[in-house]
Amino acid sequence: MTTASTPTLPTSPASERNKAPILAELLLRLPPTGHALEVAAGTGQHAAHFAAALPGWQWQPTEPEAAMHAVIAARCAGLPNVAAPVALDVREADWRMPSASLDLVYVANMVHISPWDATEGLMRGAGRVLRPGARLVVYGPFVVDGEALAPSNAAFDADLRRRNAAWGLRTLGAVAACADAAGLSLAERIAMPANNLLLVFTRR
Ligand SMILES: C[S@@+](CC[C@H](N)C(=O)[O-])C[C@H]1O[C@@H](n2cnc3c(N)ncnc32)[C@H](O)[C@@H]1O
Repeated sequence: MTTASTPTLPTSPASERNKAPILAELLLRLPPTGHALEVAAGTGQHAAHFAAALPGWQWQPTEPEAAMHAVIAARCAGLPNVAAPVALDVREADWRMPSASLDLVYVANMVHISPWDATEGLMRGAGRVLRPGARLVVYGPFVVDGEALAPSNAAFDADLRRRNAAWGLRTLGAVAACADAAGLSLAERIAMPANNLLLVFTRR
């Protein structure tokens, strides 16, 4: 079993860089067993890396781009705790799973590369499927009110908005308020390499 990047599969260099630091934070916080749903799994690099290190967890990758499902499945082949990827656009009202049934919803680098209604959908859906006390973990770059934005993040934000006017870095305050309205409290804000944050919300 390998979690190294596979040259024949589409690979995100950013995911190769960030998967180890994110996993280190997850390992500090997650119990030994649980059921996780990953939103926006992309190339499946996080799913493969995390599920291999968390054998007591059942991992369900989701991704709206159907073309990526074969990539995720190939990357997670051999990992018995990873389910076949399923399509999920977080804006859908029905995530097709029971309420209060999950221990973790995980998403990386989606909030700024999607319109704001995707963040609203993420929070609504996570608020519904997480059991009380369970976590929503969100990784990515954010604007923190009252703190200077790193020049690299300011340039990234400008580039995103040029590519799509509905994209862009979100303020932590807006994201936390949106989560709060869905019953999710911001419990931790962890500084990560390259001016990213890992946000941990808990379901009230
Ligand atoms: C930059 S990629 C990040 C992929 C992966 N999480 C990673 O960190 O490498 C952005 C992802 O967000 C997904 N995405 C965009 N809008 C979405 C939505 N409304 N619901 C679910 N996923 C969405 C895209 O399909 C894509 O996989």
